[in-house]
Amino acid sequence: MKNKDIILILDFGSQYTQLIARRVRESKVFSKIVPYNISAEEIVKINPKGIILSGGPASVYDEDAPLPRKEIFKLNKPILGVCYGMQILTHMFGGKVKETTDREYGRAELFIDNNKGIFESLPGNLTCWMSHGDEVKKLPVGFTSIAHTLNNPVAAIANRPKKIYGVQFHPEVVHTQRGAQILTNFLFQVCGCLPRWTMDKFLNESVKEIRETVGDKTVVCGLSGGVDSSVAAMMIHQAIGKRLYCIFVDNGLLRKNEALAVERTFKGHFKLNLICAQAQNRFLQRLKNITDPEQKRRIIGDEFAKVFEEASKKIKGAAFLGQGTLYPDVIESISPLGGPSATIKTHHNVGGLPKNLKLKLIEPLRDLFKDEVRAIGKHLGLPDTVLKRQPFPGPGLAIRIIGEVNEERLNILREADERVLEEIKKAGLYNDIWQSFAILLPIKTVGVMGDKRTYENAVALRCVTSSDGMTADWVKLPYEILTKISNRIINEVAGVNRVVYDISSKPPSTIEWE
Ligand code: XMP
Repeated sequence: MKNKDIILILDFGSQYTQLIARRVRESKVFSKIVPYNISAEEIVKINPKGIILSGGPASVYDEDAPLPRKEIFKLNKPILGVCYGMQILTHMFGGKVKETTDREYGRAELFIDNNKGIFESLPGNLTCWMSHGDEVKKLPVGFTSIAHTLNNPVAAIANRPKKIYGVQFHPEVVHTQRGAQILTNFLFQVCGCLPRWTMDKFLNESVKEIRETVGDKTVVCGLSGGVDSSVAAMMIHQAIGKRLYCIFVDNGLLRKNEALAVERTFKGHFKLNLICAQAQNRFLQRLKNITDPEQKRRIIGDEFAKVFEEASKKIKGAAFLGQGTLYPDVIESISPLGGPSATIKTHHNVGGLPKNLKLKLIEPLRDLFKDEVRAIGKHLGLPDTVLKRQPFPGPGLAIRIIGEVNEERLNILREADERVLEEIKKAGLYNDIWQSFAILLPIKTVGVMGDKRTYENAVALRCVTSSDGMTADWVKLPYEILTKISNRIINEVAGVNRVVYDISSKPPSTIEWE
């Protein structure tokens, strides 16, 4: 995007690196995460207004400690080092860092000794969030200490003429009082950024860019009905209208009425060119007798690629492939340490799209975090049913049917699943819950209905909260809702006579059962 200020964040592997990037963007300044060893020339090309060195798990004296290239300090860019980033500054400018016996983890009281620069307009003391074992023992020449805690005389450092600052604590986490202001002080007072990176500006410029890139050619885009592919398709549609062809693959493993809903929304309402590839039988045929979860995934991924390729070959003049790749996926692939900042799993992305399509990629969401994608979707008029949809795995119900997948078992699970969702929505819990769904178990149990003994299927119910799917906790659903869901499934879904609730957290369990 032209006319925007950029802040570069050098990633040293902190679990909070992405959070720093998001906080900066929340202040309407564009931020970009790059590997810690980025060269000075590359930085010059990007021309950022300032640089933030993230935290990280290492110690500067570790043999393989990740350190930035020395030349970046000659660029005269404002710098803020966070936690490990502050120790890097101390170490590389000739000071001394030492392991402490009094490690400070969690909350600490911060006393500000100089409220210029990053601490402007802040009170004399604040609660801050610490998480590191090392501390600054000797300041480098030209630096002063600008804050302390009771355990640590140097909790923040500054070289004001050079516009270089370091903080031992984490301003990006919510537990640090006024942390957002410390960051905005760095952005606006120290770096001289202006708050001008907004979603509508981003949208306008991206749409223009897509239009220029595509020219008079045609774009093919896979549309699943999930947030990412929907927003990507809508952006491309806004740019080139009917020269976008979306392919929706109905693999027969979807929730009840899902295919219909996608068709109504995108073909009916938004008037997109939508090709619905009916491939239910092909998938079911290949899944016959397959019980191993990873094999299911491989087959589904492989068949998806084939169906997609066949459908896209029918589109004349297709030159580009639109994809809803998000920023966290891009960061992961360049993350230097493969460490905790690279949190997005790849093991699920088996199969993917066919490699031999020979189409150039268009990825309008490559620079965005999920919440930013939702904001763009809102601008584009997408309904909450799409934007706030709970995540649904690519292999669909196949990994929620333990054991063999067949039409009969799919139908049972679809009916049970629909009732779970209906009741969760009725209770107003749908948007607070990360995922709520049913699993069909490979066992039959005895029951009694009327005067008759039954021997039918058991269904498990799984409701979890999570912020990114990496960790999760089971939801303490009120008994009345559990009762309602259980009653409805057992009474209304033929073939089920028992419902159990999954009370496992992730880790050590996973969210899906397969
Ligand atoms: P787990 O089961 O690993 O799931 O705790 C974490 C998140 O990933 C989703 N998931 C998948 N998504 N293909 C996908 O597209 C898959 O094979 C897959 N397996 C799990 C799961 O729904 C949860 O949100």
